[in-house]
Amino acid sequence: MVIFGASGDLTYRKLLPAIFDLYKNQLLPNHFAVLGVSRSDFSDEVFREKMEKGIKQFSHHKDASQETIDLFLSKVSYMAMDTGNGNEYGKLKNRLSQINQEFKTDRNYIFYLSTPPHLYAKIPKFLYGQGLNLEHKGFRRIIIEKPFGHDLKSAQDLNKQLLDFFHEEQIYRIDHYLGKETVQNLIVTRFANGIYEPLWNRNFIQHIEITAAESMGMEGRGGYYEEAGALRDMVQNHLMQLIALIAMEPPTKINADAIKYEKMKVFQALHPLSAEDLKKNVIRGQYSASKIRGKTVKGYREEENVDKKSRTETFFAMKCFIDNWRWAGVPFYIRTGKRLPTRVSEIVIHFKPSPQQLFSQNEENENQLILRIQPDEGILLKTGMKMPGNGYEVKTVNMDCHYTDLDDHYIPEAYERLLLDCMAGDSTLFMDGASLEETWRFVQPILTYWETNKNAPLYGYPAGSWGPDIIDDLIEGENQKWRYPCKNLSDDGIYCEL
Ligand code: BG6
Repeated sequence: MVIFGASGDLTYRKLLPAIFDLYKNQLLPNHFAVLGVSRSDFSDEVFREKMEKGIKQFSHHKDASQETIDLFLSKVSYMAMDTGNGNEYGKLKNRLSQINQEFKTDRNYIFYLSTPPHLYAKIPKFLYGQGLNLEHKGFRRIIIEKPFGHDLKSAQDLNKQLLDFFHEEQIYRIDHYLGKETVQNLIVTRFANGIYEPLWNRNFIQHIEITAAESMGMEGRGGYYEEAGALRDMVQNHLMQLIALIAMEPPTKINADAIKYEKMKVFQALHPLSAEDLKKNVIRGQYSASKIRGKTVKGYREEENVDKKSRTETFFAMKCFIDNWRWAGVPFYIRTGKRLPTRVSEIVIHFKPSPQQLFSQNEENENQLILRIQPDEGILLKTGMKMPGNGYEVKTVNMDCHYTDLDDHYIPEAYERLLLDCMAGDSTLFMDGASLEETWRFVQPILTYWETNKNAPLYGYPAGSWGPDIIDDLIEGENQKWRYPCKNLSDDGIYCEL
């Protein structure tokens, strides 16, 4: 595996720790090696030392013996090169031939592009120039990190450029959300159980709420985030994928083609946003300075590498619809933001109330199915139950299952699963070019609207709050409101930790 951009944070925090975990769990092939590539002038030793620190800090097996770590690191080496210069790729090819001989890797290469996006088209071109795309002597795959495009046009251009040098089957566009165990569980919950399918439609579901909240601010990523904003950073990719998995029809098989086909149908059925929707159903916000648990926290505009007058959104919420028989008229509410009260990602299916109200119930008594992606991964169903005693007092109770209740609750990191799948040639959990363009097609009108209406509202919200209050206006229906989730899935009002 060749990692371009190897001196970056992703390699240190995620990729090498994930590869080490695969190694420790005996999931890597015996004949395997990693070559880190980037401009920094490291020796093999210096690169290994850096990776060792990453492994000890971020892998699941932080306590692995030094001997195991050293054995793993003996398969890791480094090469300094200017990846934007085509003339240097002959050197890379030679180095790969040496590694191939030493580690007997059968000329199977995965090229991981964890570089600034302007290199996403160049690197494949230069690899192609050396014949490193050709598969007659082993497989050749490329993994492309996000962001895949900055808007619809640039995503289309990038797809075209990539296809000049590699076939679609060789291209693995990563969305790390799809590598999350609990995101894959959405497919299992829906399609391994007979009981949900009859209810999973407009007849029984009132609305669907998807939240990806983060308590973090910029953590040094201000420069990147200024150009991206919440819509590009989280919605066009991660949240769109969640919508697809929740809304898609049952696939005919669990394989890449069948699942991609069903997801694509959802993207195509997203109701295009009208001028009215852009004004009323899309809300952006930006956090301002505040105190969180007594600690002063900077506002977005005070963050490093952020314009003092920035209008980049750090919060995004919207209401959208899917035009098909299953979902006609069912609102999907999505919300994501930085510096919210806690880090939590979840999907809440709000079911319609029973047709006749036989008992006097409090307004909160609504059946909800909560699919918790992180933290306290699990699933919870809220249901009404009779309180002991006279009369019929109904109370909402939780039926829940937490991953931590399972005997084996090792939850692999998203990158472990995705890297392994790529090695095995399974692209089920990756995005294909066409559906990725479709997600851009859906969000593009929002970008264009903000671009052309510079004064479109950008609501402030204090760091540590749940975002601008105005998002309450998105929710249709009497007594309906956003859920305010806690760190723990079972928030029965007694115990709610943020
Ligand atoms: C990344 C975004 O894609 O996803 C980050 O660039 C965000 O801004 C992250 O923090 C969230 O992922 P996770 O796995 O921490 O929920």
